[in-house]
Amino acid sequence: YNISSQTVASSCPSNIALIKYWGKYEDQIPANPSISYTLHNCKTNTSMEFLANEPFSVQTFLTGIEEVKFAEKIEKFFKNIEKYLPWILKGKYIIKTENTFPHSSGIASSASGFGAIAKCLMELEVIFTGEKSETEWVKKVSFLARLGSGSACRSVYNGMVVWGECDEVEGSSDLFAIQYPNSEIHQVFKDFNDWVLLIHEGQKSVSSTVGHGLMKTNPYAERRFQEAKENFVPLKEILKKGDLEGFIKLVEHEALTLHAMMMMSDPAFILMKTGTLEVINKIWDFRKETSLPLFFTLDAGANVHLLFPNNGEEEKIKSFIEMELLQYTQKNGVVKDIMVF
Ligand code: PMV
Repeated sequence: YNISSQTVASSCPSNIALIKYWGKYEDQIPANPSISYTLHNCKTNTSMEFLANEPFSVQTFLTGIEEVKFAEKIEKFFKNIEKYLPWILKGKYIIKTENTFPHSSGIASSASGFGAIAKCLMELEVIFTGEKSETEWVKKVSFLARLGSGSACRSVYNGMVVWGECDEVEGSSDLFAIQYPNSEIHQVFKDFNDWVLLIHEGQKSVSSTVGHGLMKTNPYAERRFQEAKENFVPLKEILKKGDLEGFIKLVEHEALTLHAMMMMSDPAFILMKTGTLEVINKIWDFRKETSLPLFFTLDAGANVHLLFPNNGEEEKIKSFIEMELLQYTQKNGVVKDIMVF
């Protein structure tokens, strides 16, 4: 390796899962396949200064403020991936990151954060070892990002992205994510809004690492892993046909199942707040009254991701959100994102 001091920079969006990843085995192998939308506005921008031949250490700054805990996490991650990037411990790193969305919003900053770091590492790899083909490059970015945070491996592609081996998606793997073929997705799903209602901005009471771990002793886990796998069968048809009704049913069921798993863990935990439930009921009432396609998904937190297509009726949905749902958030907090591909 011909290593030298370098500064590289990269940017990576977050993503929101439709079929959820919850539960994993050794080495970040997912217990079931998952599929997500890659977001557009919610991104992490990262610069990485590599000082060659200095003793290995990592210093991280989040919007200019030094973050020691995050640096420790990255150090551990780098040691863990030395077998894939043999030069990685041969220098000092100064990593500066910035999120384009509120830090405490619960939008998956680990997905965009580890995605951006994996991209920076592969920039260095290309400088040190010579060119790689674009497909090999992005595959390895996804592979490395997965080892930082599982869901991060899906953030390195646009559109809809699948991680985890599954019969319905050719080329899918537990080791890295792949893009779900665009040609298999109906137009209605290619211009979609994701507005995140910030119900609760505080720290989560249970981290996703602990949550994944609790699936090991959850008596419903095997059934859940099976169900996630099975859900790819109808999803494939739904995406192809543009079956919005089927999509809504499946996506909401996935979100509620994720939280049901938390409630059935031992010890049990609940990440939804009162506002989460109030918003869900409001959405259901609104759909009943108007038949407009507004629906929700949830991450491992209290915030509600409001999903709706840009298919001509979005203005009515947007004004309903502004008038009826913002009151359940802290400080009228909503992060507006969009997926267009
Ligand atoms: O990537 P992790 O370990 O933070 O897990 C994320 C899990 C969920 O966000 C709840 C679901 C998913 O598939 O992204």
